[in-house]
Amino acid sequence: MTVKASKALDRVLVLEMVRVTEAAAIACSSMVGRGDEKAADAAAVEAMRQAFNELDFDGTVVIGEGERDEAPMLYIGEKVGKCSPGAPKIDIALDPLEGTTLTAKASPNALAVLAIAEQGCLLNAPDVYMDKLAIGPGYETGLVSLDRTPTENIIALAKAKGVPPHEIMALVLDRPRHEKMIAELRATGCGVVLIPDGDVAGVISVTDPETTIDIYMGSGGAPEGVLAAAALACVGGQFQGRLLFRNDDERARAAKWGVTDLDRVYQIEDLVKGDAIFAATGVTDGSLLQGVKQRKGALTTESIVMRASSGTVRRIFSEHRR
Ligand code: FBP
Repeated sequence: MTVKASKALDRVLVLEMVRVTEAAAIACSSMVGRGDEKAADAAAVEAMRQAFNELDFDGTVVIGEGERDEAPMLYIGEKVGKCSPGAPKIDIALDPLEGTTLTAKASPNALAVLAIAEQGCLLNAPDVYMDKLAIGPGYETGLVSLDRTPTENIIALAKAKGVPPHEIMALVLDRPRHEKMIAELRATGCGVVLIPDGDVAGVISVTDPETTIDIYMGSGGAPEGVLAAAALACVGGQFQGRLLFRNDDERARAAKWGVTDLDRVYQIEDLVKGDAIFAATGVTDGSLLQGVKQRKGALTTESIVMRASSGTVRRIFSEHRR
């Protein structure tokens, strides 16, 4: 898919976004393994907000910490950046700490993460669950689908990869709601890697052959789905998402964000239209990134930043001297 470069997304913003995720990751790194999810999240949120407000753009949080009445900072609709007249108008999806429990327990794959796009180009996803399906680049479009069974998807993927199903590895969030799907996957012969949390890194893992993960399946947060889709818009691969509603309150939230077709299967281009920048910094070590490390006199971070229009993927190791 060719994506035209957006003028609003000045190339300078690529590095600026890394500064923002680095700030969030560093701020919550002192809470790794401290058993306090809320304090870790609060530290990341505060630092991310401060870092955004140093930037010369007119940003609006479209996927954030929640609605205004439940989130004091980085709530959906909050303006960030210097917002000076004429500054580029940018929509932001963010999760200052993706994996609050992972951080509290010092477990792998916690990230500070964000995606930006031109105003109006990111799905304003309500904070409900989303059924997700992702495979890496190089496969025919539509090879797998949320409208097919897990068995059909594994068989199709194995055939396209030229291997038997038992050589396919699936990644799934370890949740009771996935028990039936996990049993069905295992019945095909494929392997299932179960993760405790952190499906942004989980979805992205299908794009990196080093992880040996072929397919991501199962439900997780819809905001995390948009963030993961932004990453795949840059690096390649296929992603589908369908919002899941457990009650009328969730359906009403969706209506508030303009979602009318509740059963719609969203493709990457429905979630992230046109150009986008995705950035993440590791909080704890993981499949995508190393976590923040405290060295003598300095902290080190590893980040990834990518842009849809150029297809450039940068990995940035930084040393932050104290
Ligand atoms: P938090 O950082 O908000 O704790 O989210 C972690 C996470 O595992 C996400 O990666 C995932 O999308 C979601 O929670 C799954 O939700 P649940 O824990 O309710 O199954």
